[in-house]
Amino acid sequence: MLLLLLALGLGLGLGQGGADPGPELSAALRGPPAAEVSAAFLSLTLDASLASAPQYIALLGNHKLRTLAKGLSPGFLRFGGTNTDFLIFDPTKDSTLEERELWELQGNQDICEVRSTPFVLEEQLLIQWPIQEKLILEEQYWKKHNTTTITRSTLDILYNFANCSEFQLVFGLNVLLRKSNSQWDSSNAQLLLDYCASQKYNMSWELGNEPNSFRKKSGIYIDGFQLGQDFVHLRHLLSNYSFYRNSKLYGPDVGQPWKKTQKLLRSFLKSGGKVIDSVTWHHYYVNGRTATRKDFLSPEVLDTFITAINNVFQIVDGTVPGKKVWLGETSSAYGGGAPRLSNTYVAGFMWLDKLGLSAKLGIDVVMRQVFFGAGTYHLVDQNFEPLPDYWLSLLYKKLVGTKVLHVGLKGADQKKLRVYLHCTNNHHPKYKEGDVTLFVLNLYNVTKRLQLPYYLSNKHIDEYLLLPHGKDNIFSRSIQLNGHVLRMVDDKTLPTLNEKPLSPGSMLGLPAFSYGFYVIKNAKATACI
Ligand SMILES: *[C@@H]1O[C@H](CO)[C@@H](O)[C@H](O)[C@H]1NC(C)=O
Ligand SMILES: *[C@@H]1O[C@H](CO)[C@@H](O)[C@H](O)[C@H]1NC(C)=O
Ligand SMILES: *[C@@H]1O[C@H](CO)[C@@H](O)[C@H](O)[C@H]1NC(C)=O
Ligand SMILES: *[C@@H]1O[C@H](CO)[C@@H](O)[C@H](O)[C@H]1NC(C)=O
Ligand SMILES: *[C@@H]1O[C@H](CO)[C@@H](O)[C@H](O)[C@H]1NC(C)=O
Repeated sequence: MLLLLLALGLGLGLGQGGADPGPELSAALRGPPAAEVSAAFLSLTLDASLASAPQYIALLGNHKLRTLAKGLSPGFLRFGGTNTDFLIFDPTKDSTLEERELWELQGNQDICEVRSTPFVLEEQLLIQWPIQEKLILEEQYWKKHNTTTITRSTLDILYNFANCSEFQLVFGLNVLLRKSNSQWDSSNAQLLLDYCASQKYNMSWELGNEPNSFRKKSGIYIDGFQLGQDFVHLRHLLSNYSFYRNSKLYGPDVGQPWKKTQKLLRSFLKSGGKVIDSVTWHHYYVNGRTATRKDFLSPEVLDTFITAINNVFQIVDGTVPGKKVWLGETSSAYGGGAPRLSNTYVAGFMWLDKLGLSAKLGIDVVMRQVFFGAGTYHLVDQNFEPLPDYWLSLLYKKLVGTKVLHVGLKGADQKKLRVYLHCTNNHHPKYKEGDVTLFVLNLYNVTKRLQLPYYLSNKHIDEYLLLPHGKDNIFSRSIQLNGHVLRMVDDKTLPTLNEKPLSPGSMLGLPAFSYGFYVIKNAKATACI
């Protein structure tokens, strides 16, 4: 009762040029959090297409790439995607020249002390990469996939990359290897597990990718019941390894929850739901080939995600209530992303809003497609340069904690001015228990000003405003934090992310089409203590 009486509204007045008295934003800073997510909430993927010609996996030896990955740890690194179901492990086959050179280099010393991939080798791979990238995207478009053999080195390099960047590797096994009676043929998975167990690779597992479109991709149809049984089989197989007896299994990695996919998911969960540790599904807002600038700035497009989440939870609640739900693969636009959109500042609206909505609506982990690889939705491009969504992810990781607080906006268009509130990440050296992090997206074409209410007017606030840098404006591949362009100091060093302290009582100003974070210090939110 006392807590209720103490319930404190965090009111933000916001006005446009002072003419508009502005809507009020309120949040419960007393009482329990509205939701809580995993410490690995913001996680990453690598697409299995990176191994569709296995030599390209050697690019993961790049120094910068490791530094950048480590910046986003801890988290899961999911290796999966369509090609998962077209990869075959051959433990007897020699690795590619590229893989071998990289691995031998690493083998000589502390496994995480990479001397980078030999320069000449990396150069060669990078010259050929655009051609390979084109093939990968064409394959995806035509849904015709080559089967590729991967070797021990492929697994070594992948595991090493994840482990040394402090990520937990989640490996997608091929479910399209079938017996004549249409059950999963686990013999190849067994070879792979034998090898990984012999190396004591601590990892988790998935089985198959987007089973809702198997018929299109391979001519094979697997219904939800059978897929569930295949997962039960995999769980039995895992329990035969002392090393993997308690390892985690996630699935079924269904695509967008349209009607048919909902049916598949439901019957899968009834049949195999008990053996999985989290339910995984995939989400993209738009088709990368047809997406427009307008889509990327549309509150309506952003809100379509809410419906998708609700559809999934309805099924999970009806079959395996309480089971964690993860976005196992997600990005702005499918088909590799939308050129000049998915890799620029404007992509940040979809990404930050997805993180905000996911946490608020109960998604436990969000795996971003992709950290590095083909297409334009990557966080790090083919020259190993971090893109705006990389920096946005880094700030999110540093500032935003796992507890979500209730926040509401009265009398404003909450669709165009979107606000989310969390406890501040308690690992951040500058911040204390009880501090809160507000993040705001301004989809208006004019500046919006927010003001903290009187009772918070004595609080110090750290601003982290992200704006595009350069003449391309919101289509820029370069981003600035509080006026300073973000770039790596050197291959081993990320820049410090400096706050801009605002004096107590200041307005929070967000320019047209921008986003930013605000840490309200000493807010004394009970959920955060
Ligand atoms: C798939 O195989 C075909 C035929 O061998 C080849 O032309 C094509 O380049 C391959 N695609 C990829 C992505 O390797
Ligand atoms: C990386 O490997 C080491 C040694 O096997 C292990 O102790 C550590 O937990 C691993 N890290 C992750 C993130 O899996
Ligand atoms: C693997 O890593 C997880 C998480 O770090 C840990 O809880 C588990 O005990 C490890 N498993 C083995 C077999 O070392
Ligand atoms: C697990 O091991 C037992 C005993 O060796 C064997 O009978 C069983 O078939 C194995 N299970 C799987 C799924 O491989
Ligand atoms: C802002 O958007 C409104 C419609 O929402 C439009 O009428 C106006 O011209 C736009 N202003 C600018 C500066 O683009």
